[in-house]
Amino acid sequence: MKKIIVNGGRKLQGDLTVSGSKNAALPIIFACILTNGVSEIDNLPDIGDVRAALALLSSFGAKIERRGSLTFIDTRELSYIDPDVSLTSKIRASTYLLGSCLSRFGRCPMLIFGGCNFSYRPIDMHIDACLALGAHIDGDVITADRLKGNVISFRCPSVGATVNSILLAASAEGETLLRGCAVEPHIDALIDFLNSCGASIIRQGREIRICGRELHGGKITVIGDYIEAGSYIALGLMCGSVRVKNAPLSHMSAVLDCFSTLGATFSFEDNFISAHLSSKNFLSLTTAPYPAFPTDLQPIFAPLMAVISGGEIIDTVWRERFGYLDSLSHFGILSHREDNRARIFRSKIHSGKTVAPDLRGGMACLMTALAAEGQSEIDSLEIILRGYENLEKKLRTLGAEIKIQDT
Ligand code: EPZ
Repeated sequence: MKKIIVNGGRKLQGDLTVSGSKNAALPIIFACILTNGVSEIDNLPDIGDVRAALALLSSFGAKIERRGSLTFIDTRELSYIDPDVSLTSKIRASTYLLGSCLSRFGRCPMLIFGGCNFSYRPIDMHIDACLALGAHIDGDVITADRLKGNVISFRCPSVGATVNSILLAASAEGETLLRGCAVEPHIDALIDFLNSCGASIIRQGREIRICGRELHGGKITVIGDYIEAGSYIALGLMCGSVRVKNAPLSHMSAVLDCFSTLGATFSFEDNFISAHLSSKNFLSLTTAPYPAFPTDLQPIFAPLMAVISGGEIIDTVWRERFGYLDSLSHFGILSHREDNRARIFRSKIHSGKTVAPDLRGGMACLMTALAAEGQSEIDSLEIILRGYENLEKKLRTLGAEIKIQDT
C-alpha cells in the first residue's frame, strides 16, 4: 500500500488539464468485448480502474497496445475464462462483464463486484435486464444461448443497469427499448462508441432504442472527466488559484451553479476555467441523477463548505454516502448526519491522519490536507489513484509539497 504525506497550508497555483472520464472509459473498454475487430480509443485515462478493466480484457485474449494518447484493443481472438476475482473485486465496472460476457460468450459468473463501499449497491436491475433478454441463472452462473430484444423499464435511473442493458441489446436479436434510463454523459459516450462499431442505438430523453447488430472495431475519444474537473476547481477555491483546462463545461451546469451559490465567480480564457471566491455563502445541495448535481461530487463539496460558510448535503442517489465524514473529522471538519442528509459546520481545519475511505471521500481528505497548515498523512492512496490520473504530478504542478511512501 502507499500513503501520501502532505505539508499543507501552502498556496497552490497553476494550470491542470482534465483527463479522460473514468466513468466513460470503463463502459467503452467492456463494450470492446462485443466487437470483432480492433478499436482505437483516444484519451483513455491511465488510472487504477482502467488498468484493472484492461487486465480483464487481456485475460480473455484481447491484445492491447498503447501508442501515445491512443489505446488499441484487438478483440478478434477472444475466448472465455472465468474472470479473475482479484480484478473483478477491485472495480464496480466489473458489473459490465454481465452484459459483455453474456453477449460474447453466453455466460458470466455471478461475481463479487468491487468498487467504493460507501453504500449497499444492489444489481437487481442488471439481473432483471439479463433475464428480460433471455438469460437464465444456473446457480452461480448466468447463461444465455441467444439474447433476444425486449422492452425494459427501470424503476429509477441507474448508470450501471443502463450500461449493461445497452451491452446486452447491442448485438441481441431484434429490437430493444429501454425506458427510464440514466442519461449521464458517459451513457452517450458508450452509445457513440458502439455506433462507431456498427451498432444501431438512438437515445431520446430517457428512452434508448437499440437494434442488434454484428459489431466491428470502433473509434472514440474519451470525454473529459467532469468529476475530476469539479474536484480541481474546488481545490483551487480551497487552496489558491487553479486553472483547469478542457473541463467539459456543458456537463457541469449543476456543479457550476453550486460553486456560484457558495460565492465563486469564474474566469474563462482559451479552454481554461478558474474560480475565486467573491463572497462566502451557506450552500444547500441535493444530489440526483444527471443532469442534476452529481453524487460523486458531494464528498468534494463537504470540505469546501467547511472552510467557507458551512452547508447541507442531501444525497438522493446513495442515501448512506456519508462515511467519509468520519475521515474528514480527523482534520477538524464538524458535521452531523441524519438519514440521507448531512449538515457541514463552518470548521477550523487542522492537519491530521486518516485512511482514504473511498475514491471521492479520499480526494476530499487530500484536499483538506493540502489546505490545512502542517503535516498530514493519508493512507491507502491507491484508492484515490483509482480515479484521478497523474495525481502526484498534477499536485506538484500546483506547488503542493507532497511525498508518497510505501507502507
Ligand atoms: C455509477 O455507479 C458510478 N460508477 C458511480 O461513481 C456513481 O456514483 C453512480 O453511477 C451514480 O452516478 C461508475 O460509473 C463505475 P447506479 P453505479 O446504478 O452504476 C440504485 C465514482 O466515484 N440501483 O447509477 O453503481 C443504486 O442503489 C463512482 O466514480 C438499484 O437499486 O450506480 C443507487 O441508489 C462511485 N439497483 C442508484 O440506483 C440496481 O440494480 C444509482 O446507482 C442498480 C442501481
